[in-house]
Amino acid sequence: MEKVAVVTGSSSGMGFETSLALARDGFYTFATVRNVKKSDKILQIAKKEKLNLEIIELDVDNEKSISSAIEKILAKKQRIDVLVNNAGWGLFGSVEDVPLKEFRAQFETNFFGIISIIQKVAPVMRKQGSGIIVNISSVAGKIGFPGSPAYISSKFALEGLSESLRYELGQFGVKVIIIEPGVVKTNFFSSMKVAEPKPDSPYKEITQKVIMGVKMMAELGTPPSEVAKVILNAIKEENPRPRYIVGNDAQMFLEAKKAKTDTEFENYLKKELFSS
Ligand SMILES: NC(=O)c1ccc[n+]([C@@H]2O[C@H](COP(=O)([O-])OP(=O)(O)OC[C@H]3O[C@@H](n4cnc5c(N)ncnc54)[C@H](OP(=O)(O)O)[C@@H]3O)[C@@H](O)[C@H]2O)c1
Repeated sequence: MEKVAVVTGSSSGMGFETSLALARDGFYTFATVRNVKKSDKILQIAKKEKLNLEIIELDVDNEKSISSAIEKILAKKQRIDVLVNNAGWGLFGSVEDVPLKEFRAQFETNFFGIISIIQKVAPVMRKQGSGIIVNISSVAGKIGFPGSPAYISSKFALEGLSESLRYELGQFGVKVIIIEPGVVKTNFFSSMKVAEPKPDSPYKEITQKVIMGVKMMAELGTPPSEVAKVILNAIKEENPRPRYIVGNDAQMFLEAKKAKTDTEFENYLKKELFSS
């Protein structure tokens, strides 16, 4: 039976690579994008390789757009086997510097939009008695650091949502997994937003240091195709693990977090991040 996959944020980076990896593996893939003008490249590749890949407009921030996209997919294929909640972006700036409206906008895409999609897709998977939801979190979903609390807390929230969903949906044969990449070389770092610091902000320096640090790491970041490979392998496992860490940087930080007490880890991170 033909399996159907839906990937959000397929215009670039991990979503782009994951849509292609799934289609190359035989999934009928709905590569969703919020701006269809950005789908030329993926469509060209799909055409050249004769892949079953279709573009559907889906803006994660827009309830109507989500409903319309899922309705179109179900009208065409009547099932969804894989949902990859990938679309997301990063907001930088300290808690005091990020206006609440922007904090909420960060959560709209990285958290509430995902809930809205899951509320529409989970009943379909439940009725099928099968399906897998892949939520793209981050090392930032497990480790807090200064300069990006809005992004970090949106990913922490996604981790909690995913863990809870595993119990709720697991009993109906629907799997939920979390992907935790470290720094990946994508458009994330050119698309990220930085809140204007208040004139008297004492956080300008630390925020700039974090931004420069992640941008430097991005140059040597994991290729997004590596993340796509991990996702593809994970969804094909009989019993996928709750979490998949991708990248040596992610592995290093998350192992350190596991091995140390909270205070030890905080001191370790301060040294790693702030010793210049
Ligand atoms: N890069 C990293 O180091 C890293 C590490 C860990 C986790 N992540 C996570 O990985 C995911 C993918 O990011 P990426 O690194 O591949 O960055 P990317 O190349 O910038 O891709 C982000 C994708 O999300 C889309 N998007 C943003 N807001 C959207 C919305 N409201 N509705 C629909 N699509 C939307 C973007 O569309 P447009 O092209 O229209 O903007 C783009 O397709 C994100 O959830 C990110 O938080 C990234």
